[in-house]
Amino acid sequence: MTLVLGIETSCDETAAAVVEDGRYVRSSVVSSQVDLHARFGGVVPEVASRAHVELIGTVIADALVEAGTELADLDAVAACHGPGLAGALLVGVSAAKALALVGGLPYVGVNHLEAHLYAAWLAEPGLEPPLAVLIVSGGHTMVVVMEGHGRYRVVGQTVDDAAGEAFDKVARHLGLGYPGGPAIDRLAREGDRAAIRFPRAMAGEPDLSFAGLKTAVVNHVRGHPGGSVADVAASFQEAVVDQLVTKLVAAADEARAPVLALGGGVAANSRLRARVAEAAAASGRRAFLPSRELCTDNGAMIAATAWWRLRADGPTSLGEGADPNLRLPEIT
Ligand code: KG4
Ligand code: ZN
Repeated sequence: MTLVLGIETSCDETAAAVVEDGRYVRSSVVSSQVDLHARFGGVVPEVASRAHVELIGTVIADALVEAGTELADLDAVAACHGPGLAGALLVGVSAAKALALVGGLPYVGVNHLEAHLYAAWLAEPGLEPPLAVLIVSGGHTMVVVMEGHGRYRVVGQTVDDAAGEAFDKVARHLGLGYPGGPAIDRLAREGDRAAIRFPRAMAGEPDLSFAGLKTAVVNHVRGHPGGSVADVAASFQEAVVDQLVTKLVAAADEARAPVLALGGGVAANSRLRARVAEAAAASGRRAFLPSRELCTDNGAMIAATAWWRLRADGPTSLGEGADPNLRLPEIT
């Protein structure tokens, strides 16, 4: 049995988890800073870094206690080393390296995007590639074909805003507060998703775009003062989800992938989950919709990825820092 401690501090969640053999979550502690940033209407990097420094010690200690383990029982310590906010990433990376040094353990730096892919394995330990995965968060929107462990192809990605960013911007415009995704998801249930036909960008292409949709919503609201906000929310959400599901299914068709999976904060969206499940059923595929806890940023996905990476590549040098612009390692 192998135990890995995974630390995640790339954005506004301070998280740590202990995972057994890359698949079984022994503990997962997530301290969200969402309330801290809400009054600014978005994540303030400097505020995030300071909060990580304050929280990281307790979060790691809680993760070890909840797993019923201690530093001496671990086999490796991992941290997300990018992409993300530079100052925020450094907090987790420094903590992981310090623990690795003290415990005489290997350190593993983990790519945040790769970690979102591995969350599917925590939900379904028996999963076999190839998978078509949609990673949708506040910072990223990409369709990835995972052909094997460590073997990825980015089939499409957003050319402008991330899907979560579109939810947040539209929610702000509608006066629904931050974070916008959950607010729109809730309000959309009371609205008519066919009320307004918003544009679906880049039809027939693998890439995605949400900037035009956001502008269309702003223009519609301006032109229809007093209209139903719930209808706007539901119709906007349907346009986003339509685009996401279409591109995911096209990637799965092209790669002949029998499995559709989701990762990232927007994967918590109830309409997206329903539509991916429907699309899978309609095409004889299986859908993996990890729980909200596994979709949003967490330490368990970092620990799981580290376990696979450690076996494939060995430990990361302690001389390696964080890279805010790290990309998903692709096969060529
Ligand atoms: O992955 P995440 O927790 O953080 C990063 O951006 O890395 O994703 C946060 C994003 C936010 O934009 C938030 O509005 C969106 O996920 N989100 C949702 C829902 N829950 C969170 N978007 C749509 N529907 C939701 N239920
Ligand atoms: Zn994320």
